[in-house]
Amino acid sequence: MINIIKNLYKGEKTSDDEIKYILESDDGSVDQLLMRYGSETAGKYYGKKVFLRGLIEFTNYCRNNCYYCGIRRDNLHAERYRLSKREILSCCKNGYDLGFRTFVLQGGEDNHYSDDMICSIVSAIKEKFEDCAVTLSIGEKNYESYKAYFDAGADRYLLRHETANADHYGRLHPKNMNSENRKKCLYNLKNIGYQVGCGIMVGSPYQTMDNIIEDLHFMQELRPDMIGIGPFIPHRDTPFGDKKKGSVRLTLRLISVLRLMFRDVLIPATTALGTLEQSGREKGILYGANVVMPNISPVYARERYTLYDNKIYSGRESIEGIGELKKSIAKIGYEAVTDRGDRAGFFSGEKY
Ligand code: 5AD
Repeated sequence: MINIIKNLYKGEKTSDDEIKYILESDDGSVDQLLMRYGSETAGKYYGKKVFLRGLIEFTNYCRNNCYYCGIRRDNLHAERYRLSKREILSCCKNGYDLGFRTFVLQGGEDNHYSDDMICSIVSAIKEKFEDCAVTLSIGEKNYESYKAYFDAGADRYLLRHETANADHYGRLHPKNMNSENRKKCLYNLKNIGYQVGCGIMVGSPYQTMDNIIEDLHFMQELRPDMIGIGPFIPHRDTPFGDKKKGSVRLTLRLISVLRLMFRDVLIPATTALGTLEQSGREKGILYGANVVMPNISPVYARERYTLYDNKIYSGRESIEGIGELKKSIAKIGYEAVTDRGDRAGFFSGEKY
């Protein structure tokens, strides 16, 4: 087992079965080794730095009906809200004053925001906060829209592929969505010049270990700059309300495997991980994650952006708890920093 992890660490070839073995093993010493090599690899590129991003959840209206998601169109219990451009800029101002230099604008697929509106929001942020990066996470759009946002100044785009397997994708989404288009969007974003993030939910309904291996192969092909993974957590008002939640242990192990395979990629310790376990995000960092995204949306928005049950949005998860978050990161030997934090090799075009 140590040899598999060392081979991953050294960038030597490992088989799918070997990766599966690492992810599934009951031997707890796997975790010690993954933490050691995962954090060592992150350290090579980023030292002990953990990048903070200010997350603004600006709309929970969504035209999609994904079976797992609490803000799906058919969830009539969801209290919908939208933030105006002014409100978004005011979130950025608050974040900027606290040192944040990346803003992540995330929302459902909400047609209320035309491309022109998104562009005008992005360019206003870039104008007012010159030294900041803007990340968009607003779903599937056509090439021209992505290009327009990029030209308006957006630097990065997060779009989890959710699963690389077409059949599995079909079990998580209604028929009008498909994995082919999802992947095409990711390649379009990459071609335009964005730093691109993909990712999956760990333990989503019907997911198999083979699906996860397929996800790793897809990522090897896409070569993303960011990979976001978190455990699936059911939401009571969705078709998956009574499905089993994903495993924290498997999520943590996957974080390490991703770190070893994709070297300098940016990996967040996600809110979902922190929701299932109090110290989930700190553990994520110890396994090789290097990004945390505190919520800087207004409180009323945070309360309503419920993708899954019991989502945390106060305390160290939010802008008010930033001091506490920094402390808890310092306690495990890391330093929370607010610089832009681009992927180490991005501008030099370096490959991992
Ligand atoms: N549990 C965990 N993650 C979820 N997401 C959506 N619904 C859930 C859920 N029930 C994730 C998806 C999406 C991201 C914004 O949140 O992966 O891409």
